[in-house]
Amino acid sequence: MSYLGLDLGTSGLRALLVTEDGAPIGATERHYEVAHPHTGWSEQNPADWIVALEGVIDELRQRYPEFAQVKGIGVAGHMHGATLLDREGTVLRPCILWNDTRAHEEAAALDATNDVQALSGNIVFPGFTAPKLLWVQKNEPEIFAKVAKVLLPAAYLNFYLSGRYVADMSDSAGTSWLDTGARDWSARLLEAGQMRRDQMPDLVEGSAPAGTLRGDLASRWGLSEAVTVAGGAGDNAAAACGIGAMVEGQGFVSLGTSGVLLAARDGYHPDSASVVHTFCHAVPERWYQMGVMLSATDSLNWLARITGQSPAALTASLGDELRPPSAVKFLPYLSGERTPHNDAGARGSFTGLSAGTTQADMTQAVIEGVSFGLRDNLEALRGTGARLDALTAIGGGTASDYWLKLLATVLGVPLHLPKGGEFGAALGAARLALVADSGAAVNAVMTPPEIGSVIMPEEALRPAFEDAYAEFRAAFPVIRSIS
Ligand code: XUL
Repeated sequence: MSYLGLDLGTSGLRALLVTEDGAPIGATERHYEVAHPHTGWSEQNPADWIVALEGVIDELRQRYPEFAQVKGIGVAGHMHGATLLDREGTVLRPCILWNDTRAHEEAAALDATNDVQALSGNIVFPGFTAPKLLWVQKNEPEIFAKVAKVLLPAAYLNFYLSGRYVADMSDSAGTSWLDTGARDWSARLLEAGQMRRDQMPDLVEGSAPAGTLRGDLASRWGLSEAVTVAGGAGDNAAAACGIGAMVEGQGFVSLGTSGVLLAARDGYHPDSASVVHTFCHAVPERWYQMGVMLSATDSLNWLARITGQSPAALTASLGDELRPPSAVKFLPYLSGERTPHNDAGARGSFTGLSAGTTQADMTQAVIEGVSFGLRDNLEALRGTGARLDALTAIGGGTASDYWLKLLATVLGVPLHLPKGGEFGAALGAARLALVADSGAAVNAVMTPPEIGSVIMPEEALRPAFEDAYAEFRAAFPVIRSIS
């Protein structure tokens, strides 16, 4: 028997095949684009996700005979995206993504509406799903009138796989339509967002079955038995399942397109004033909190694009030894910011440039700015009472040893690096499939990985980075632009 975890990320789809014990067999990826038709907009065509899905399945089938024994599939997806479907299940417009801030006015209005923060447990950020639908209602009324279902990206893949409209609690908590404490769609929140319950998918826990694989796909993919499709999860809850962050004290820092600092919580402790997110976990009766910054590796990718280098070449140019803080400063607000500022109009900047500034100085400034942004998230999480003594580090940015040393020093927290390549959202999704299909106990499956190495803060440089962090804090408010 084997299980398949799919991680529908912002830059690509990763598929991971695991054994019935959750051990990795093999993985592959396909990439797709994000379109930015206007400043602050961010969209993807769901048809590209399906092409990527069919591509990874073809490759896994050819490379791993174990694929024929797949018993369950779990999907993790980038959160908050609005995939709008008509009555026939046809996609009405490109999906509006999590880092799209066009709906900032609608978000502010909804956020100020009675009961909304109290029931959803969160600020209504412009990237959340509900304000996007209000934007569509106002700006694309002919499309709004045809909306029969709104699916998050992972739920759209669930629909493609099973033919059923089903979403899990962790992803649904990011819509501002879910009563996050009660784990159910809220009539009051739907009314505030001008939506109806029949436009929502059915809800299940991420570790529960959502349906079975469509017969036509099963036969095309060479699968003979009934294959369970799990509820799945938002990518951050799935990553928490992948690294076994299930109880108080456990958490991770993710250097992905977005930067995330996540803490598993015992119980539901909403605290929207702190600008952290409080969402359902992907397993029953658990919640988590996280701070989210919108442009983490996205900031480095931007520098790479305009300098014609790869992100890896840029960070490699810094060498191995951690340097004292750069004289050049970078504010990482290329797409506005969520935690701790909730400001869609904030924009990035370089300061302290001189005639002698080099590309390496600018690279150092960019990854320092992102690390200081993550320190902001750590402070915000600590303000809610979350405990984080050590953090597991995940995401593409962890490929740079320099960035890991810098981040451990800026956060003042040891960073644990799991051994072996596979952990994070794809593994979490595969684990959800395993539990949904086999009924195995969550605690037995969602265990922390074996740690390969621990990156300690560099104590000698901590005072200098504390001063630089204080300067970073003082640099806000920043240049703003809302278009
Ligand atoms: C979380 C968030 C991002 C996306 C993309 O609130 O918006 O982390 O899930 O990964």
